[in-house]
Amino acid sequence: MNVLITGGGGQLGKSLAKVLQEANANVYSYSKSELDITNMEDVRRAFQEAMPDYVYHAAAYTAVDECEKKIKKAYDINTVGTLNVAKESSKYGACLFYMSSDYVFDGESQTAYTEVSEPNPKSVYGLSKWIGERVVQASLSTYYIVRTSWLYGHGGKNFVKTMRRLGLTNKEIQVVNDQTGSPTYVEDLTKVLLQLIGKPYGIYHISNSGSCSWYEFAKTIYLLSGADPELVKPTTAEEYGALAPRPVYSVLSMDRLEACGIQKPQYWLDAVKEFIEKEEWVDD
Ligand SMILES: NC(=O)c1ccc[n+]([C@@H]2O[C@H](COP(=O)([O-])OP(=O)(O)OC[C@H]3O[C@@H](n4cnc5c(N)ncnc54)[C@H](OP(=O)(O)O)[C@@H]3O)[C@@H](O)[C@H]2O)c1
Repeated sequence: MNVLITGGGGQLGKSLAKVLQEANANVYSYSKSELDITNMEDVRRAFQEAMPDYVYHAAAYTAVDECEKKIKKAYDINTVGTLNVAKESSKYGACLFYMSSDYVFDGESQTAYTEVSEPNPKSVYGLSKWIGERVVQASLSTYYIVRTSWLYGHGGKNFVKTMRRLGLTNKEIQVVNDQTGSPTYVEDLTKVLLQLIGKPYGIYHISNSGSCSWYEFAKTIYLLSGADPELVKPTTAEEYGALAPRPVYSVLSMDRLEACGIQKPQYWLDAVKEFIEKEEWVDD
């Protein structure tokens, strides 16, 4: 099978390319310099080369706060770029995996969001990803829209790497304690993305199991890295003052995944432990 990956230089793109190659797929993974999804000529050329059966669309403008300032760029990449990829996927009769986000929800729920919960994004990033979902749904029927949350993986900058670095330099930090979600280890997400092939098309939620606040997440990373967790202090989102509003609560229900016979990923704390053990900490 031929697989095309957009955003091949990102955290998820790198993991997908590795796992799919190990599964003997013909993998055409393109980083931004090889395939700019906002450039239709690039998109056409990549599809012509890959002749894909499956497209994993992992490219996105993921700097959530920056999206509030660079609004056009956010929609150009996350929405128009997605339209370009979706149109071409439809032309080639390919199955499209579109990666979406917990930030499509407003965070006002008291219980885990299901695939049929109504999105109501509060940030430019969230809205650009949600319109991306709608664009996919309007362009083809052979799609999986996968909403995930708080990603960290081996190939890229992320919260776990930053917290570990700060912890190992004995940095006292303040971390938001009034936003709850589910961290997701990219390797766990990738495994499920492969298992989805052949299951009914539509929207799925995938994250690690369980939930925590950013503060609890940071404290855990300090602890598991051998740093002093008492250096992590709680603060509020208001005090922290990030530019983009984030959902107060964005836990994703994975009932649909389980109903399809796919086991939900491991508990978030075990996943953080596994990541810290497996990462080759040469860059830090
Ligand atoms: N990270 C999270 O916490 C999170 C949470 C929920 C959902 N998601 C979604 O999951 C997917 C993968 O996320 P990730 O963490 O792997 O993100 P990532 O590491 O930021 O990777 C995204 C990649 O897309 C590339 N890109 C940006 N603009 C592009 C363009 N115009 N054309 C082609 N490529 C472009 C980026 O390149 P440059 O870095 O060179 O710009 C980057 O390599 C994204 O769709 C994201 O929205 C992420």
